Amino acid sequence: MSPHEFNFLHAFHVSSVLLLVGLTFYALAGAPETRKRVVMWSGIVSLLVVGSGIRMWQAEFNFAMAGWVFLKLLCWLGISALAGMAYRRREKAGLFGALTAILAILAVTLAYTKPF
Ligand code: HEM
Repeated sequence: MSPHEFNFLHAFHVSSVLLLVGLTFYALAGAPETRKRVVMWSGIVSLLVVGSGIRMWQAEFNFAMAGWVFLKLLCWLGISALAGMAYRRREKAGLFGALTAILAILAVTLAYTKPF
């Protein structure tokens, strides 16, 4: 992987993650008529997060099955699921918001520390 692609992928990945988390919080409070567009965009952005993550995993770590990658995949799955459920389970907005924050913080910490 060239240094340009390396930098691009990292910036792209983190930008996609910012959008995914932002859209998830929006979905927890947005008006019902915004549902279709927000759910569509959170689905698209979610694919960008996992796509860029998998490309870096392949290029930098040759798909080595490290625990931090596995846990990050679970964090991504959790946030993506919460984004999908946010409009339908409004009574759980507080819980879903807290879970989104915890999963995002965990994924960022895993990316930088790679503890296992
Ligand atoms: C919503 C969940 C996720 C968050 C919050 C997140 C966050 C981050 C952050 C902050 C970085 C560091 C970027 C940098 O150093 O410039 C990173 C890197 C990375 N992420 Fe994610 N990520 C998530 C999901 C994923 C997924 C699903 C994968 C799939 C395999 C993945 C694989 C990677 C890889 C391989 C790196 C590069 C690590 C390195 O170069 O040292 N991430 N991620």
